[in-house]
Amino acid sequence: MMNEHIAIVGAGLIGRAWAIVFARAGCKVSIFDGAPEALQACQALLRENVTDLAQQGLIDEAPDLVLARITPVSTLAEALEGAVLVQENVRETLEAKQAIFAEMDRLAAPTTILASSTSGIPASAFSADLAGRARILVAHPVNPPYLVPLVELAPAPWTSPDAIERARDLYARAGQSPVLLKKEIAGFLLNRIQAAVLNEVLNLYENGYASVADLDTVMKDGLGMRWAFMGPFETIDLNAPDGVVDYAARYGPIYKEVSRQHLPNAWSPELLTKIESERREVLPAQQLGERTRWRDNRLMALVAHKRKQPL
Ligand SMILES: NC(=O)c1ccc[n+]([C@@H]2O[C@H](COP(=O)([O-])OP(=O)(O)OC[C@H]3O[C@@H](n4cnc5c(N)ncnc54)[C@H](O)[C@@H]3O)[C@@H](O)[C@H]2O)c1
Repeated sequence: MMNEHIAIVGAGLIGRAWAIVFARAGCKVSIFDGAPEALQACQALLRENVTDLAQQGLIDEAPDLVLARITPVSTLAEALEGAVLVQENVRETLEAKQAIFAEMDRLAAPTTILASSTSGIPASAFSADLAGRARILVAHPVNPPYLVPLVELAPAPWTSPDAIERARDLYARAGQSPVLLKKEIAGFLLNRIQAAVLNEVLNLYENGYASVADLDTVMKDGLGMRWAFMGPFETIDLNAPDGVVDYAARYGPIYKEVSRQHLPNAWSPELLTKIESERREVLPAQQLGERTRWRDNRLMALVAHKRKQPL
């Protein structure tokens, strides 16, 4: 079990979820929010989430033991005291990130790693002018990180190799699956790959090749079956008897031709309205919440299944 002290800044959806990741791993977690009502509200929500995890067999301890490691605190300075890592989760604007990182860099001990959960702002945009910029990086989670383990580490050009390595080690020991971006790029890795898939399904639908339901089926009953436990490179390595080069010799020409036909989709409001109306036929708006809970339960069952499998 870990015993480090971790600070969580911003107690909204993602901050709360990170608190669970680290508390579940044994860490002492301080959680701070600029809005006292958010800090207050987060406690019941944390209990709900941790209880769900226990019910699904995804934590080995009683919920109270995990929750007892999370301490809400009323100042940023108090949260940062003694922390090896600060996970920042305030709202997604450049101004908010610049302000909070300037304050955290001033308050935190020099060796404390400062990591942002930002979905799309590069670390260089909010750390360039800070004295401690070598210990600042992005650590982008997937919602909720206590179920989906990927964390994308996206350092700025000046983030030190030591800070990157210490961050990677902390996330890995907390049960996450860290990957490293060797250079900054918009959308990091996951959302760039998701963008490619979305672009193509939007084009296939817009040009009349298939229905919304059938395009979703291609993923859930086709590609997604393998993608829950292996990536696209391992997929092609295993889909021809002699590996990647053999696969490329057999199927490369098809992919190259298809890639030549790929065009960016404009995401027009008319197109999106049509897609939404196909979705509403199978899922009325009033059932969206219920279906979201169904999704979270499926995800928990998948996590439980994956835990039992050999690597
Ligand atoms: N929601 C997602 O699916 C998702 C996924 C990955 C990453 N992220 C990123 O996580 C971050 C947080 O997103 P969220 O969905 O949890 O938002 P949220 O609105 O649920 O929570 C933000 C919290 O930050 C608090 N806050 C704002 N300014 C603050 C400050 N200066 N000091 C302390 N607390 C402050 C707010 O009171 C609020 O409670 C964003 O950068 C977002 O891009 C979100």
